Amino acid sequence: MILIKNIGELVGIVPAGVLRKQGAEMAETGVLKDAWLVIEDGKIAGFGKMADLVGHDDNDLSVIPGTNSSVIPGSDRESIDAEGGLVMPAFCDSHTHIVYAGSRDGEFLDKINGLSYEEIAARGGGILNSSDLLHETSEDELYEQSMVRVREMMAKGTGALEIKSGYGLNPEDELKMLRVIRRIRESVPALVRITFLGAHAIGRGYTHEGYVQAVVDMMPKAAELADFVDVFCDEGFFTVEDTDRILTAGAACGLRPKIHANELAVSGGVQVGVKHGALSVDHLERTGDAEIEALRGSATMPTMLPGSSFFLGIPFGRAKEFIGAGLGVALASDYNPGSSPSGDMRFVMALGCIRMRLTPVQAMNAVTLNSAYAMGLSDITGSITVGKRADLLLTHPGWTLTKIPYLHQTPFLRTVFLGGRALE
Ligand code: NIG
Ligand code: FE
Repeated sequence: MILIKNIGELVGIVPAGVLRKQGAEMAETGVLKDAWLVIEDGKIAGFGKMADLVGHDDNDLSVIPGTNSSVIPGSDRESIDAEGGLVMPAFCDSHTHIVYAGSRDGEFLDKINGLSYEEIAARGGGILNSSDLLHETSEDELYEQSMVRVREMMAKGTGALEIKSGYGLNPEDELKMLRVIRRIRESVPALVRITFLGAHAIGRGYTHEGYVQAVVDMMPKAAELADFVDVFCDEGFFTVEDTDRILTAGAACGLRPKIHANELAVSGGVQVGVKHGALSVDHLERTGDAEIEALRGSATMPTMLPGSSFFLGIPFGRAKEFIGAGLGVALASDYNPGSSPSGDMRFVMALGCIRMRLTPVQAMNAVTLNSAYAMGLSDITGSITVGKRADLLLTHPGWTLTKIPYLHQTPFLRTVFLGGRALE
């Protein structure tokens, strides 16, 4: 059992059973000042006001109101003095491509010299470049390279993440990626969800039609390893018809969609995603009112990826308008070597505030509860709720929620707790 006491602000408190925030709810979060929180068996066991603690002195502290164990034996109790620091839910990152091989820094130079993402891809760079590198990399090496990124993400406060395949682009290498993601899931304290993104680009040596068929054929094996299916439904990649076919095949194997839509063009991806009951539709840099209408009343979480808007110099998603229309919004990193080479969710939160004009509370809900929802995990993480996993961030003294995106380069994290344990 761990007691965190003298928390300056405990933010992100959400009643049990609230799985996402939409519309005006995005601006709301439960806050307790001068608070304590108890972790038991890796979960949040209780929290409250310091003033209500019986016995403030560590040696004397015996009763924690509201927790399962009212009497805390001194021996197995650890007490952490937050010294006025802030405690919030760990970040949830519902969209990443962090399993990849090597580097694409050469394309970074092409980009600086004026080539667009599409032009780089058309020259055989982009996703196909990563696919060639991945093909030549052993499974162990791919795991090691990817784990460096996962460790960095956890150290920066990410407690749950989704990881996609999509740099294999043939049956053998796609399954290799999925196995590596599973191995990551088994070896880290963060929660990991797995997405089969065979339809990320047309694999080398395939015709368009031949590759779509190959993805459909890969589905049963992929479904043994993955939780979700994804399609890059966008101009120059996969059409709405391809997406429809692939998602139908996914559904037959029990895979729910999370899809890439409307990054490069108004693609129809949102509508086909909603039609298939997608858990999320992601990117959404280019959307009109038709997309907002399609999402209204659905269970699909619109997910925006400001890191890729920032890196590619393309529009940011219209988060405020989505929220104004009563929808929820999640934010994720899209960490990948081509369009968003960063998994820093605090920076994503800052971009949400600075470039998308979300308030710090809206941005926090977008990078915690709503992003957890976008990977089907908001019943177990993403908020300060009794019974949820203790995936928590404790800041240095003096930090407020507003300062986190405002002073966006200043180190703020004191301790990251994942599943109730402090990350080493
Ligand atoms: O989400 N848009 C498609 N896929 C990735 C980019 C992948 C890459 O360039 O390697 C994205 O931006
Ligand atoms: Fe992506």
